[in-house]
Amino acid sequence: MGRGETIQGALYFRDLRPLSRIFSTGHTAQPEMLDPTLIAKVVDLLRSGGLVALPTETVYGLGADAENELAVRRIFAAKGRPSSHPLIVHVLDAASALGWTRAFPETARRLAAAFWPGPLTLVLPRGGRAADAITGGQQTVALRAPAHPVMRQVLTAFGGGIAAPSANRFGRVSPTRAEHVRADLGEAVDFIVDAGPCPIGIESTIVDVSGDHPGLLRPGAISPEEIEKVLEQPLRTAPSDVRAPGLMRSHYAPSAAVELVAAEEIVGRAEELQSTGHKVALIAPSLSRLPPGARAFPIAADTAGFARDLYATFREIDRQGFDIILVVPPPSSGLGWAIRDRLARAASSRR
Ligand code: TXA
Ligand code: MG
Repeated sequence: MGRGETIQGALYFRDLRPLSRIFSTGHTAQPEMLDPTLIAKVVDLLRSGGLVALPTETVYGLGADAENELAVRRIFAAKGRPSSHPLIVHVLDAASALGWTRAFPETARRLAAAFWPGPLTLVLPRGGRAADAITGGQQTVALRAPAHPVMRQVLTAFGGGIAAPSANRFGRVSPTRAEHVRADLGEAVDFIVDAGPCPIGIESTIVDVSGDHPGLLRPGAISPEEIEKVLEQPLRTAPSDVRAPGLMRSHYAPSAAVELVAAEEIVGRAEELQSTGHKVALIAPSLSRLPPGARAFPIAADTAGFARDLYATFREIDRQGFDIILVVPPPSSGLGWAIRDRLARAASSRR
């Protein structure tokens, strides 16, 4: 199997649909989701300093051996990402966090017990295994135990930590399908494991538990209310002094400009933009009427479906060369609050 090759998940997978059930009940992954020879191949590549795109329940990650500095540097080169931006180290569970962090405070213990494996990243005081190449020279390290069965199988077989940012070019939206990885990174990645669409579709919640008071760094599938309930204290949400480039506005934006509109205004606004020569795409659950020339990209009305399809829809709209996207934001329940966060960033980014 050569460089840049993609393995089609369907050949190696049982139906991924049970994952949402596995995830929401907090059970760990089904065994043997991938062919053992494929797992061995992936592990070999990781051990020899290769870059492997791997599915997680949130988005695809660009994985490398987190203790191989050359491999970690290749991640930055492949993404075109500044080396000062720290990476998330993926571990199997809280026990595997040992060495990556020098302290696992009570707050981290509680959150890991409640939400790992799952879409929660914890920022902790860095341990001896976390090199500067991972932390961007900071005194903290970001750790996550992902829930995706394939990623867990790879982590188990590999035995170490896997550094993995989202597998997109720097400044593009995160990949939620293997073809997005291929389109962005092409030959810069040695191997892509295709497990179909990521079941959640937006990046993990990031909580900083390295200091005296836990703080929310990035909204995600786990809501602040759920986190506060487990911590029995409120989260600090003001921007902290740690660098989290994922909080930069342009990180969640497609190339086309994004405008948020109310459902009842979308058609009027589309007409207005069309009349001034714009090529307009609409993202909305359902539209009774469409202005001539504008193109609708229907999206699920439920927030989980919306999150799952949003980045793929952004990419498709960019591919088709639209210059403005009108979006009706989903309700803020469930995954809605994290989607609204990403949409607000996309809408206020200047390109
Ligand atoms: O869902 C996810 O988190 C995906 C999957 C692949 O796990 N990963 C992901 O990684 O979104 P990335 O690198 O695209 O975004 C991680 C964010 C970045 O904004 C980074 O700055 C922040 O985490 N981060 C990493 N280490 C940090 C640290 N020590 N302190 C503060 N923020 C950190
Ligand atoms: Mg990213």
